[in-house]
Formats: sequence, C-alpha cells, structure tokens
Amino acid sequence: MSSDTLSITDNRTNKAIEIPIDRGTVRATDLRQLKTDEYDFGLITYDPGYMNTGSCRSRITFIDGDQGILRYRGYPIEQLAEDSTHLECSWLLLNGELPTRSSLTSWENQIVGNMAVNEAFKPFMSSFWHDAHPMGMVQAALAALGTFHPSAKKVHDREERQIHIRNLIAQVPTLAAYAYRHNAGLPYVGPDSMLSYTGNFLNMMFSRGETRHRPHQVLERALDVLFILHADHEQNCSTSTMRMVGSAMTDPYAALSAASAALYGPLHGGANEAVLTMLREIGNKENIPEFIKGVKAGQGRLMGFGHRVYKNYDPRARIVKRCADEVFEVTGRNPLIEIASELERIALEDEYFIRRKLYPNVDFYSGVIYEAMGFPTEMFTVLFAVARTVGWLAQWEELLCDSDQKIARPRQIYEGEEIRDYVPMEKRH
Ligand code: SDX
Repeated sequence: MSSDTLSITDNRTNKAIEIPIDRGTVRATDLRQLKTDEYDFGLITYDPGYMNTGSCRSRITFIDGDQGILRYRGYPIEQLAEDSTHLECSWLLLNGELPTRSSLTSWENQIVGNMAVNEAFKPFMSSFWHDAHPMGMVQAALAALGTFHPSAKKVHDREERQIHIRNLIAQVPTLAAYAYRHNAGLPYVGPDSMLSYTGNFLNMMFSRGETRHRPHQVLERALDVLFILHADHEQNCSTSTMRMVGSAMTDPYAALSAASAALYGPLHGGANEAVLTMLREIGNKENIPEFIKGVKAGQGRLMGFGHRVYKNYDPRARIVKRCADEVFEVTGRNPLIEIASELERIALEDEYFIRRKLYPNVDFYSGVIYEAMGFPTEMFTVLFAVARTVGWLAQWEELLCDSDQKIARPRQIYEGEEIRDYVPMEKRH
C-alpha cells in the first residue's frame, strides 16, 4: 500500500531513510539525516532562484501556471476584475472574505480619510534631484514614512499592525503622486474626501491649479481594475523580499521599502517600463522580425514575455488587453499597441517562444494603457507598487501569524579558500 513518504538511500553510506511527504512537499531539514560522517552537517538542498522551493504555506493567492489560473482567496481574478474594486479586493486579501456592505463602507472611509501624509514630506520629496526616478523616491519615502511611526515596530500587536496596514494602503498613492509632481515641477495636491481611492490618486496626480481633476469614469475604472490585477501574486520576488525582511521583525514601512526595491528591477515590476522602451526602440511593425531575430540570438529579451510560474497566457494580460480597448475609446488609440499586438502574434507562432512556453505577462500591455492615460513611463512601476502594497502587507501579516515561520537565513555551498595564515604586507607581491 503506497504511503505519503519518500524512501531515500544515500549511496555514499548505504544509509536508507524514509521522510514524510506533506501536500506535495518534503521538509528540506529531513535531508540532514544523510551524513558522510559525524562531523558532516548533513545534506542540504541547492536551489538558486528558488526554482523549486516552497518558502511558506499561504491561503491568500492561488496560481496554476499551466492552466493560467489566478485566484485571490479562491475568487477568480476574472470575476474580481469584472465586479470588484481595488479597495474591496484589498479587504478580501487582508481578511480572507468579501466584506459586507457596512464593512466595505467603513473600510473605504478609513482609507480615503487617511490618504494625507505629514506636511514634512513636501520638503523631503523636494530634496530629490529634479529628474530622480519616482520609484527611487517612493522607495526612500516608504522608509522615511516609518520614522514617523515608531509604534510600527510592535509587529506582534494586531491593533498596531492594522493601523499601519491602513496607513500604508492609504498613503502610498499620495507618496506616488508627490513623486510625480516633483518630477513635473508641480505643486503637491492633497487628497479630497469627496473622491474615491483611485479617483483621489488621479486627482493628486493630474489636477492643475485650483480645479479638482475630474478623471473620466472609464479611466478611473480602468486604473482600478489594473490595481486589482496587480494586488497580489503569491511568492514573487518582491513579496518574498517582504517576507524575508519581515521575518527579522522589521517594521512594515521598512519592509515595504525593501519589497519596492525588488519590484524596481527590470526582470520584475520594472518590466512594464522596459516594455515601452522596447516598443519605442522597435519603432514600427516592419522592424519586428529583425528584433525577434536578435532576441532569439540572445541579444536581449522580449520584455513583458515569460514568467517563472505561468507557462500559459498570464490571465491578467488578457484582462489588461481588454482594458486597453476601453481606455483607447476615451484617450484615442496608442499606436504602440499595434506594435505590441503584432509582436505578440509573431512571437506566439515562433518555435523559440513556444518551446520555452513564453507568453505575454501582466507587464506586456499595461504600460501602453498607462501611457495613453497620461502617466510618464517612469511612473509605471510606481503604479505597480501602489497596487501591490496590499499584497505585500497581507503576506507580511500572514508570515507574522504563522507559527512555522522564523527568521529567514538560507545556507550556502562554500567554494572559497581553505584555511590560510595572514600575510604581512612586506611579504605580499
Ligand atoms: C512580473 O513572479 C511573479 O509572479 C512576478 C509578477 C508578479 O505579479 O509579481 O508576475 C510580475 O515580474 C512579471 C515578469 C516581468 N518580467 C519580464 O517581462 C522580463 C522578461 N521576462 C524574463 O526575463 C523572464 O521570463 C522572467 C524573469 C519573467 C522569468 O525568468 P525565469 O523563469 O528565470 O526563466 P529563465 O530566465 O531561466 O528563462 C528560461 C529560458 C531561457 O532560454 P534558454 O536559456 O533555455 O535558451 O527562456 C528564455 C531564457 O533566455 N526567456 C526569454 C524570456 N524569458 C525567458 N527569452 C526571451 N524573452 C524573454 N522574455
């Protein structure tokens, strides 16, 4: 009768062990029973990039990469994008259930009513160089925001966690808008309790003078859907960073700053900005075959394509593409979408991409929409960070409440020098 165990024989010593299999996993520490002698630390796993290592158990987001499935707390992303809002999804990700009408109203008031940041942030944001990258500014501002909230260090106090989770969800959009206004040489605009969360963000970004920026309803809804799509994505690079830094009991502001640093990278959240640069460099559809030839020859990557988990179409990319059509109805068609669509068509028929199961990911079309909505390219990853703030915080809180978790401290395989004596300067050459 089969049992949920793994039998392993170490052929170096002929020692045989049996270790339990739990929900498709084995505990790496069970392998330490296999030693060559009493001084041996025992077998460890070696998994650069964590290609095949589970870091945690989570109940927040489920992804099936082969089927192209994404669910927040069991709800399909397609249904949430159609019927929900970013703040409702934020409640869902944090609390595990959809809110009642009264809970949602109270949550929305708490968030929208808390979007203002301390006046001290105006000179802080103005201290950056005029063309500082807004993602760098937001990363620094997150750590700075934490210095206003020393009580955030009480990470095991649930009430304190709730206060700072609300603060961050509410104020990251404001810091993001401040970063944009600084680059644009525009005065900072505070939140307006008459507007929605996403409407406030658009107003803080684009209002000119005294008049409140009345975002077009289609654009406000499209951005809110894009926030929903980017809210969480299980153990991606930036969320794993949030968990790793959070495992040291760091306050959520500093941990969020670290997570945003990971997102900044062009292989991760920085890809949406890299896609626009790539599309502009290609310039027109006639240049696509030459560009694809270069990618296949190893001269760079097709940005916005490929994914560590999705070996099928990223379900978010499909929804983003649908959003694009709705946005272009209002803004006019962004000509870059033609290059992106043709690039997708050609790549999906090309053996190189088919064999490697490379499909468009969430970043492939999002930048084309952001640009049509008036966001500068450097703001694209900042928009990703605004949306992902709730995912990072939900995963951080789950980590703190998981009795299985302890400070993250991986092992290594040492390949350096053996012991040797210090050499006095006069004897070095
Ligand atoms: C996000 O993890 C998440 O969930 C992330 C995210 C989230 O919501 O948090 O979904 C958001 O980060 C999406 C990904 C955005 N990044 C990009 O679009 C950058 C371009 N894509 C890649 O660089 C790459 O696909 C990654 C980083 C996304 C995934 O890399 P992997 O899983 O480490 O795969 P790999 O680099 O080992 O590539 C495997 C093969 C290689 O070819 P061979 O060596 O086998 O010949 O596929 C090739 C790679 O060269 N390849 C690509 C490619 N991506 C992989 N070739 C051309 N263009 C690409 N985009």
